[in-house]
Amino acid sequence: MRPTQNPKTYRVKSFGCQMNVYDGDRMAELLAEQGITPAPEGEQADLVVLNTCHIREKAAEKVYSDIGRIVKDWDGEDGSSPLIAVAGCVAQAEGEEIMARAPAVTMVVGPQAYHRLPDMLREATSGKRVTDTDMPAETKFDALPKRRRSGPTAFLTVQEGCDKFCTYCVVPYTRGAEVSRPHADLVEEAKRLVDGGAREITLLGQNVNAWTGENARGQPVGLDGLIRELAEIPDLARIRYTTSHPNDMTEGLIAAHGEIAKLMPFLHLPVQAGNDRVLKAMNRSHTVESYLRILEQVRAVRPDIALSGDFIVGFPGETDAEFEDTLGLVEAVGYAQCFSFKYSPRPGTPAATMDDQIAAAVMDERLQRLQAALNRDQLAFNKASVGKTCEVLVERKGKHPGQWLGKSPWLQSVHFTGEAQIGDLVRVELAEAGPNSISARLLETAAA
Ligand code: 5AD
Ligand code: SF4
Repeated sequence: MRPTQNPKTYRVKSFGCQMNVYDGDRMAELLAEQGITPAPEGEQADLVVLNTCHIREKAAEKVYSDIGRIVKDWDGEDGSSPLIAVAGCVAQAEGEEIMARAPAVTMVVGPQAYHRLPDMLREATSGKRVTDTDMPAETKFDALPKRRRSGPTAFLTVQEGCDKFCTYCVVPYTRGAEVSRPHADLVEEAKRLVDGGAREITLLGQNVNAWTGENARGQPVGLDGLIRELAEIPDLARIRYTTSHPNDMTEGLIAAHGEIAKLMPFLHLPVQAGNDRVLKAMNRSHTVESYLRILEQVRAVRPDIALSGDFIVGFPGETDAEFEDTLGLVEAVGYAQCFSFKYSPRPGTPAATMDDQIAAAVMDERLQRLQAALNRDQLAFNKASVGKTCEVLVERKGKHPGQWLGKSPWLQSVHFTGEAQIGDLVRVELAEAGPNSISARLLETAAA
């Protein structure tokens, strides 16, 4: 089979974290510059980019079933085949294996090399199979097209990579060392996003709070300094950031939560486990106590802050009692929402070869118990919001006529019925809470 020549339509499918969503958007912009248009919903695309996630085994295996499905469903000219590019962290970690295992794949491109996609595409359409998983010193960001359009909410990658080397995690290997994008570039990209329609920007990084840079006056600044600068953009209404590491939670960033009105009252601060021995084996370099102290400090300056975290159950050697400590921590914090996972051994990470790997059935049971506790707390947090008035940023239409969906300052999904438009900040009263969403009564449109 020969790949379809000169693809006219593309589809980018992003899996995993929000950084992949950002990268997927940027790849779409690159392809659009080549004159390729997005394939209409439900129709096949000539070029499919699978922007993959390697964080857990299940996520990584998904790419092979997706490739199989695209090839099976392909309905093109006789003898033709779709162009398939595998991007993202699976591409970085398993590029050669993908090329060997999946002959239908014509391009493999890592997360630091995707600015070269147009060149790779030229080679692929002339019949070659190309791999680029370099981590070049020059930044891909300089080679990407300028941002033009945006929905009401936008992601902005400010920092990439990780130097923390938690013993279970592939990120330091797939995304490389911690790198901060320059302050001026970020301010410019943020302004363009706002000009293009963004009212909320979420700053992204694997360790977003490790971001450092120099402001326009040449002074060294941390993430709080960048947030302060972005808060000056008049039409930008909301700023969020994710994901943070407890060790990079500076005093300045904590203080920012009490001082910058545009910084939303939400903090995603993964803890992973509630027991110090496990945290040490994970190489987390914080303790339960130091983590709780940070939350206390944030709550002191922003009492209504919604807290979020990530948890792993069944890390090698985790005993029943150590797992109970995790439940105890959850109880003590009262999270607004969380992500929780079964430990998944990743090739090349230290934990994958540790003794005492935990049986699947034990992990299942622990995850169920943890998720029951987290769901209980999420519902309690939502119920405690009922009766509050707040602003909602309208993101899209709901299922019912006249219904709109958006987010509260605390990142809850809110739906309401009434006069509004996408991109409006409307004032509502939160009326009825479920585990995953809240219905609200429209009070007024705060700002168009
Ligand atoms: N197994 C399970 N969960 C993992 N995470 C990272 N690596 C693994 C792994 N090997 C989780 C952590 C991290 C989130 C993004 O994914 O909780 O914070
Ligand atoms: Fe992975 Fe730990 Fe780095 Fe987060 S801090 S990306 S969990 S190594």
